[in-house]
Amino acid sequence: MKIRAAVLEEFGAPLEVQELELAEPKAGEVLVRLVACGVCHTDLYTASGADPSGYSPTVLGHEGAGVVERVGDGVSSVASGDHVVTLFSPQCRECEHCRDPRTNLCLAIREQQGQGYLPDGTTRLSRDGEAIRHFMGTSTFAEYTVMPEIALAKVSREAPLDRACLFACGLSTGLGAAMYTARVEAGSTCVVFGAGMVGLGAVAGCRLQGADRIVCVDLSDERLRLARGQGATDAISGGPDAVEQILGLTDGFGADYTFEATGNVAVMRQAVESARMGWGLATVCGVAGKGETLDIVPRFLITGRRVAGSSFGGVKGRDQVPQLVDRYLAGEIDVDAFVSHKLTLDDVNRGFELMEAQDGIRSVIDFA
Ligand SMILES: NC(=O)c1ccc[n+]([C@@H]2O[C@H](COP(=O)([O-])OP(=O)(O)OC[C@H]3O[C@@H](n4cnc5c(N)ncnc54)[C@H](O)[C@@H]3O)[C@@H](O)[C@H]2O)c1
Ligand SMILES: [Zn+2]
Ligand SMILES: [Zn+2]
Repeated sequence: MKIRAAVLEEFGAPLEVQELELAEPKAGEVLVRLVACGVCHTDLYTASGADPSGYSPTVLGHEGAGVVERVGDGVSSVASGDHVVTLFSPQCRECEHCRDPRTNLCLAIREQQGQGYLPDGTTRLSRDGEAIRHFMGTSTFAEYTVMPEIALAKVSREAPLDRACLFACGLSTGLGAAMYTARVEAGSTCVVFGAGMVGLGAVAGCRLQGADRIVCVDLSDERLRLARGQGATDAISGGPDAVEQILGLTDGFGADYTFEATGNVAVMRQAVESARMGWGLATVCGVAGKGETLDIVPRFLITGRRVAGSSFGGVKGRDQVPQLVDRYLAGEIDVDAFVSHKLTLDDVNRGFELMEAQDGIRSVIDFA
């Protein structure tokens, strides 16, 4: 079938919205009609050429939600008409990692996905016979996409898809960091560095876990205001003295749980240093620049602090994204506050500009 999609032709150049050919889903694959898709930093990171593993031409986009149109042979967990959220982090439910509660890093299709192919090593996207690669196994800046069944979370049909799409990446990453990676305990003190989509999600996750105190740190007053709306009890301005300020707020000890959601390695270090001696856990969510390293004075570790990293918030996507969406539907998560702009697919580059200008939290492409 013919579809319209936003293609990354050349790094550093705007995406080009054009007509492509999309082949039918093969065995284990699903054809999804996209209804909404968020614009995330990872799309821009790849489009800019900064991502060392990037490739082109490819169709970007990974924060998608839509409706199943048709399924290939052997697909049993979703059917035509189901509402789905796309998962760049799949869940096969069979590999060693999927069977272990300690991680969400499914091993099933990692290699092919990383190179832009579907699990059988080919693409469904093409243009005049030339293969166009998939991106993050999702390629959701498109009217339709073909994805592996194991990379789709079936969610309630009651959830508006222009909200549900945020659970495909940023929001789940933040919520999950608090709920599944750190497993924040009720009554705890938490600190969240960064109040973008991921940090605000972490604030909400700490609140859902019953944290007593949630300190949010950011450079923008506007974003700190949003953090209070998600449950932050304290808001402080970021900078070199952030650790000192946090120690001042916590009797000199630091917090039970800290979260980094900025991508800045100096802030990651602050997250470690503001975690409490004895048991403080610092969870790193941000993606650092190529070659950057995190500096930790070992004394912080010897005295009982721990560091964890979190990819997609530790969320096992097919099982847990539907649960998170249900909590949104139950009124426990205010997702509306995150959708700042609605765009058409043709405006996708405007989504990048808004993100670079930190104008709003998320721009969502509406395919309707
Ligand atoms: N681990 C994952 O699976 C995953 C998934 C999605 C995004 N990410 C990463 O998470 C990070 C955050 O993503 P986002 O979409 O929320 O980004 P964002 O740019 O919207 O938010 C980052 C926030 O950090 C704040 N900030 C910058 N410097 C600061 C400082 N010194 N102190 C305090 N706050 C500071 C900014 O003001 C901004 O509000 C990025 O690095 C992104 O690549 C990781
Ligand atoms: Zn993302
Ligand atoms: Zn797996």
